[in-house]
Amino acid sequence: MIGQDLDTAIRILKEEELVAIPTETVYGLAGNALSTKAVARIFSVKNRPGFDPLIIHIPSLEVLDKWTYRPSAELHLLAERFMPGPLTLLLPRREMIPDLVTSGSSLVAVRIPAHPMSQALLSALDFPLAAPSANPFGYISPTTATHVADQLGDKIPYILDGGPCAVGLESTIIGLEDGIVTVFRKGGLAVESIEALVGPVQVKAHSSSNPQAPGMLKSHYAPRVPLVFGSLEELTARHAGQRLGILAFQEVSEQLAGPDTLVLSPSGNLLEAAQRLFAAMRALDQRDIELIVAEPLPETGLGRAINDRLRRASSQEKE
Ligand code: TXA
Ligand code: MG
Repeated sequence: MIGQDLDTAIRILKEEELVAIPTETVYGLAGNALSTKAVARIFSVKNRPGFDPLIIHIPSLEVLDKWTYRPSAELHLLAERFMPGPLTLLLPRREMIPDLVTSGSSLVAVRIPAHPMSQALLSALDFPLAAPSANPFGYISPTTATHVADQLGDKIPYILDGGPCAVGLESTIIGLEDGIVTVFRKGGLAVESIEALVGPVQVKAHSSSNPQAPGMLKSHYAPRVPLVFGSLEELTARHAGQRLGILAFQEVSEQLAGPDTLVLSPSGNLLEAAQRLFAAMRALDQRDIELIVAEPLPETGLGRAINDRLRRASSQEKE
């Protein structure tokens, strides 16, 4: 059921069942992070492999110490500046966080969402919420309550509807590697904003051979219809004769325009493009087409995270 009733969500979560919740990045599939029953259910509903750990969500920085040990100076600075927001930090976990949540790692991923509904919900609970994106493993993350209902509606008792997600991309995941601040997943907080605060950081390219954060798996975020990523002119010429869907950044030429051409931001605004990206990929995935052709955005700001998702969606590599 889709609804907006916080009390219903609170009751279900206290019963160790799952609720899909809105955040400003994407919708999450939430359960009591301290309950192995709830956490196990998250893995089974998502069909997610146990080696891929979950993010815990807390209401504010004040309770960070309760679940983790003190972050390094740089991570602390980032937390103070960007939390609540589209940032996830990898921090040393305290013992009460179950192994199942972190897949056995000594680090736990922590996020403080800014969405008022998830804020209100988390403030009413005395446990953190483990919540991966509320999509079947390997598919595009949901940015509306309807996206969640379409794929998981029959598997969970309640979907809290907080409207379309304002950021539209998953959080940026940051931690330390050999003492160096490292971006493990590009996301809704731009690398430039992070570097403006703590200086140059290491940005991990995705790797499917030895994924530290399995969100780095190459073939992730993939629609069912195959997707190719590159110049629209070149790719549409190369695949002429196939029924194509086109995912364009800005206004396209008359030649490329048509019912199966979706434009992310006619004016070329990266924030707007990020907001619309996943809904557009889902929409094209429903069309009667054989191939999605998507073009790269400028490699700056959120454009980097968007290109990362499109590149991974285009990968034919299997997990
Ligand atoms: O914006 C977001 O981050 C959303 C919303 C719901 O908060 N959540 C999200 O969760 O995208 P998920 O599970 O789809 O992606 C989290 C990523 C996974 O790739 C996981 O491998 C990585 O975070 N991760 C979680 N805990 C980790 C840990 N202890 N060490 C390394 N990577 C971790
Ligand atoms: Mg996910």
